[in-house]
Amino acid sequence: MKKQITTDYEVVTIDELTTDERQLVELAQQATYRSYAPYSHFCVGAAIRLSDGAMVTGANQENVAYPSGTCAERTACFYAHAEHPDARFEAIAIAARGTDGEPLAEPISPCGACRQALMQYEVLAGAPVEVLLVGREAIYRLPSVRSLLPFAFTSL
Ligand code: THU
Repeated sequence: MKKQITTDYEVVTIDELTTDERQLVELAQQATYRSYAPYSHFCVGAAIRLSDGAMVTGANQENVAYPSGTCAERTACFYAHAEHPDARFEAIAIAARGTDGEPLAEPISPCGACRQALMQYEVLAGAPVEVLLVGREAIYRLPSVRSLLPFAFTSL
């Protein structure tokens, strides 16, 4: 039996976003300037909107022992849940600047480890967490973290 998994997403411009979404996108873009990326010079920012109204940001943090560093998405989601343990995640925006320092034309999407980490908070929220992948020329709007991670591992 052949089966198929598909992912629906929208390609939108900043003008098509809601006020809340636009604010989250701007926070993610600003967070790229707080990235600590002395090795890759690839600066990523993430911003998470929580059900208590807080907006939490994170940026990638690199380390001389490379695997000890972490991505913007995990910086943001671990910080968000550590500081706001009772709040649900509602949405996340992710933006990046390339090695030339310029915002990327096309969005990047989170690495596998970050997808798994984010999935945890979507399951905890009990509702889809909207994902905004931010490029200079286009923004990809995905309905959920799950849509980025088919066959997610979600229970022991
Ligand atoms: N990085 C992120 O922070 N998020 C992503 O979605 C992809 C990659 C970081 C990790 C590393 O510091 C740099 O970007 C280059 O891979």
